[in-house]
Amino acid sequence: MEATIVSDDVKHYPVLLKEIISVITPQHGGTFIDCTFGQGGYSKEILKHKNTKVLALDRDIESKKKADQIEEKYPDRFLFKNLKFSKLNNLKLKNENIKGIIFDLGYSLTQIKDPKKGLSFNSLGELNMMMGLNEFSANDAINKLNKEDIEKILKFFGDEKDAKIISKNIIKFRENKHINTEDLVNIIERSKRKKNFKVHSATKSFQALRIFVNKEISELIYGLINSVKILKKDGVLAVVTFHSLEDKIVKYFFKSLSENKSVSRYKPKVDQKELFFSMPQKKPITPTDQEISENQPSRSAKLRYVIKNKETYEIETDILDKFSNLIEIENLGSIL
Ligand SMILES: C[S@@+](CC[C@H](N)C(=O)[O-])C[C@H]1O[C@@H](n2cnc3c(N)ncnc32)[C@H](O)[C@@H]1O
Repeated sequence: MEATIVSDDVKHYPVLLKEIISVITPQHGGTFIDCTFGQGGYSKEILKHKNTKVLALDRDIESKKKADQIEEKYPDRFLFKNLKFSKLNNLKLKNENIKGIIFDLGYSLTQIKDPKKGLSFNSLGELNMMMGLNEFSANDAINKLNKEDIEKILKFFGDEKDAKIISKNIIKFRENKHINTEDLVNIIERSKRKKNFKVHSATKSFQALRIFVNKEISELIYGLINSVKILKKDGVLAVVTFHSLEDKIVKYFFKSLSENKSVSRYKPKVDQKELFFSMPQKKPITPTDQEISENQPSRSAKLRYVIKNKETYEIETDILDKFSNLIEIENLGSIL
């Protein structure tokens, strides 16, 4: 989601809340994992149902303030951990009766509004973009990586057509001055060959840098793999995405484990129940016109979900190979 100017008393809208609840059915009780707690919109709604428990994660320690309030209200049913969801396997949850795991990817408006986080091109000063528990910042990436690596980040994570010229101009500028947020926005604006008057010139490059700094691709892939390992049979895994790269990964993971891949017509087709997931809806669920009119940033949200058919902790998936080129680009950050 890109930044919008919002006032402090802005209402927090959990995106696709009704739809998430109807998919994970907390009215039947059970333990749920809210992998992206944020302001707690989903967690609070689940906890309204008796016999539910919620384990909530967020990599941003700022979320803890909201989590503390919920913990006070539901001391026996709610627990918060400041943890990246790729590390779900550290929590030793295999024997818990996990009925639903939810991801609402991206950033909350509170984070986008926070000038210290520098997530938006509207922020002034030092480049940052770290959501929490990061290894390096956008400042490190832009001021230290070489031209080829910056170009790859802008091209593959932002689909930025002018990645080559932007990265060339970044290196040139940096010979004389350390690059801050305003400098980067100016460099991008000057480099763009075609101006688009509807979308800010820096939108794609900033999206690319946020993905890189927060390793969002590896986070998502390992988050998905580790979450299905701990989900119980008949449990639901639901993911809300906000950009096409995230949606592509989720769609591939869900489809590849819920479709009969037998290529031989001589082999009998596997029973649907033998497949790892059932996918009740092939098309993603999207916000209603009313939700979009009340909360503009929800317009790009897509909800996909699957139901686990098997009582197993093992999973066979080629998702790491499928997206290895993107993971390699994220790993360029290891030198920073
Ligand atoms: C769009 S907000 C979630 C909003 C939440 N559903 C609500 O209703 O308040 C996304 C949240 O996920 C967190 N987040 C993003 N990536 C994460 C990761 N890899 N591990 C843990 N938390 C993450 C962000 O810090 C942010 O607070």
